[in-house]
Amino acid sequence: KDDTTYKIGFSQCVSGDAWRRAMHQEMYRELSFYPELTLEIKDAKGDNATQIRQIREFLDEGIDLLIVSPNESEPITPIVEEAFQNGIPVIVIDRKTSSNLYTAYIGGDNYEVGQTAGQYIRNLLKGQGRVLEIWGLQGSSPAIERHNGLTKGFQGSGIEIVTSIKGEWEKDTAKNRLKQHFESDEFPEFDLIFGHNDVMAIGAQEICKNLGIEEKKFIGVDALPGPYGGIQAVTDGILDATFLYPTGGDVAIEIAHKILADEQVVKENILQTAVVDSTNIRIMKQQTDKIIDQQNNITRQKERIDVQMEIYRNQRTFLFGFGLT
Ligand code: FRU
Repeated sequence: KDDTTYKIGFSQCVSGDAWRRAMHQEMYRELSFYPELTLEIKDAKGDNATQIRQIREFLDEGIDLLIVSPNESEPITPIVEEAFQNGIPVIVIDRKTSSNLYTAYIGGDNYEVGQTAGQYIRNLLKGQGRVLEIWGLQGSSPAIERHNGLTKGFQGSGIEIVTSIKGEWEKDTAKNRLKQHFESDEFPEFDLIFGHNDVMAIGAQEICKNLGIEEKKFIGVDALPGPYGGIQAVTDGILDATFLYPTGGDVAIEIAHKILADEQVVKENILQTAVVDSTNIRIMKQQTDKIIDQQNNITRQKERIDVQMEIYRNQRTFLFGFGLT
């Protein structure tokens, strides 16, 4: 019997939000299929220096595989390259480094997300309009790619970005900066707010509502299921549309398992995106509710199996004590 166990270290850029929590849940659910794998997550809390230090700790402690979602690309690249060059397989997830020294990447195509959003906005505003853009953290790859895709989607139309707000992916930061912006004497008129993620777009809608700024459209990215996610926000008419951006947590563990089992893996694993708006929200909501239900069942079943295993182990120890096995 092969008793080899493997330790996976996951350096997560930040973890306070529901999207990252969903990523972790997917990882742990997938891990339950592979008892030989253990996972430790270190949360850098949105700080580059902390993330570098934590990856260094992983390397010093000894890990068999590194998963990393870099807070910002440039500063995190050298330490990830170092890990890779020292022979540790590296899976980059969601946010990218600025290097191609890694084993596999998993994530949605953020340029495509931005471009699809741009085309969608173009249709919605009938080719003419003013957009207020709320950016994710400016040194993080999804923010840059979503912005570049968006401007590509607007190309050749009468749509123009009149204001850019630095939301840093966070609802409160986006809300505060937007509030300041609206409090300044003369802010440019706009028709639509595009948030690089749903929480910032939802925050923007709250601010506009509070300030009596009416008849604006709101679009975000993520389409997370659950009570505070984008699916619910579209259901409630808070967002006009959102774009699905899967976390890839389960895929990361599946690929980690393959790498550690010496199987071949594809280097670029691009996850599908899709628009969610009033035309498909009912079916999306039904399906995601059903998935949440099934996932909860899996978790319950796993807990019951764990209890049974514990009973079995205790019985064996007991019988063993009497020399009966
Ligand atoms: C969560 C998040 C998501 C966004 C992604 C980009 O931390 O901000 O909302 O899609 O990170 O990296």
